[in-house]
Amino acid sequence: MSARPTWLTADVLRRPDPAVGGAHAHAAQRAAAEFEGLPVIGEDWRPRAVGIVGAGTMGGGIAMAFANVGVPVVLVDRSSADVHRGMERIRANYNHSVTRGRLEQTVADERLALISASDQFAALAPAEVVIEAVFEDLDLKRRVFVDIDRVAASDALLCTNTSGLDIDRIAEVTGRPEVVIGTHFFSPANVMRLLEVVSGARTSPETLAKVLRIGDLIGKIPVPAGNAPSFIGNAMLADYSRETNFLVEEGSSPSEVDGVLEEFGFAMGLFKVGDMAGLDVGLDARRQAILTRPKDRRHSDLRFVPIEMGRLGQKTGAGWYRYEPGSRMPLPDPELDAALIDHSARIGIERRQIGAEEIVARCLYALVNRGAWLLQDGVASKPGDIDAVYVTGYGFPADVGGPMFWADEVGLAAIAADIGRLHQDFGGWWEPAPLLLDLARTGRRFADLDPRNEGSR
Ligand SMILES: NC(=O)c1ccc[n+]([C@@H]2O[C@H](COP(=O)([O-])OP(=O)(O)OC[C@H]3O[C@@H](n4cnc5c(N)ncnc54)[C@H](O)[C@@H]3O)[C@@H](O)[C@H]2O)c1
Repeated sequence: MSARPTWLTADVLRRPDPAVGGAHAHAAQRAAAEFEGLPVIGEDWRPRAVGIVGAGTMGGGIAMAFANVGVPVVLVDRSSADVHRGMERIRANYNHSVTRGRLEQTVADERLALISASDQFAALAPAEVVIEAVFEDLDLKRRVFVDIDRVAASDALLCTNTSGLDIDRIAEVTGRPEVVIGTHFFSPANVMRLLEVVSGARTSPETLAKVLRIGDLIGKIPVPAGNAPSFIGNAMLADYSRETNFLVEEGSSPSEVDGVLEEFGFAMGLFKVGDMAGLDVGLDARRQAILTRPKDRRHSDLRFVPIEMGRLGQKTGAGWYRYEPGSRMPLPDPELDAALIDHSARIGIERRQIGAEEIVARCLYALVNRGAWLLQDGVASKPGDIDAVYVTGYGFPADVGGPMFWADEVGLAAIAADIGRLHQDFGGWWEPAPLLLDLARTGRRFADLDPRNEGSR
């Protein structure tokens, strides 16, 4: 039996009444687009056409999201070969839906006919919204925005689908930073409902209001976010994912960690997600990041273990799990487990049994504490926005409401005390957000920070 860790006092396996949690998740999603002080955009405003730069995975999905609601799209990429590949992928996606009986052929044809493509930036001229979805590289995005600025219509909104780069550094290369904004879609962009809408320092309220309206038009849950590294969702994911890696270094297996989080209600554990996405995604950036790591805290190189074994995820038949030929069913793999045990020994960690409570506590606390920092820093404007992000974009169980709602239910006093002890014992990453400490000390909840709740309790 694995002992309950001495620092843990909260009852982390406690869950809200599913109906109450579900109702909160639903209300939070609806309320996310309610942002104070925005101008009113006419009821029937919709963009006359959308231009997308980069016909890759995201550009193609975003194009479908607009075509699906009848908005004409032009896709631009570097070469006719890139454009062709992008259009073929969109065609294949629509065909797949038709074959599966989810879409009428005539409807698919109509939607496809709304999407045109070009290898010339001049083709963006008619668009009232331009969305950049090229590779995640700041210099490249800045060059692309210079070109967009040159050709885009005078009334166009200029959006970037960056996953976490600085919007201001992109906006500053244009002569119109007030219309530059982040529209962070999630993959697959024609399916996933979350849309983080990231205002830069000079983004105008009208630009934000229009993009929130666009999100609504294409059936997304648009959530306003501030321009801080990785915005809301991915900033929290970094902490959560780091903790899952630490747990495996200390004695859990990837399938144990995934299993506990799936039992908690997550749609999928992060190791399975990694295998689906490909473990080499963003590898160069990760290697780069090693050079600038803060020295005062623990880091994990766990993810390089499978990569160095040539295990890149489902596409190579093995990653954190192994896969039988033709199957996507993740199976635990003793070969990898042995390599992980070696890894722990190499970094001087004595492995131990880790129980479900500790796994849930460390992963959820990492989310909650980062969420509190984001609220305090104004990156998220209300706690429900964080819940909406996690439920709609990261597979957090809707019937638990969201990480901040969960924290309110478990009790902020106990959580703050536990995080305080983790900080004492492990330092670095666990520095508690002053906002969390303050709420705990004054007996309040995250929900009390939402102005719409004033007077309701
Ligand atoms: N893939 C995801 O899960 C995901 C999720 C959210 C956000 N994003 C972000 O979306 C953006 C695109 O990611 P992706 O996965 O679609 O990449 P991708 O590699 O599938 O597609 C990028 C496309 O950009 C094109 N391109 C590159 N340079 C160009 C240029 N100078 N002019 C025109 N086109 C150019 C490429 O030819 C390619 O078709 C990145 O910023 C990424 O961080 C990706």
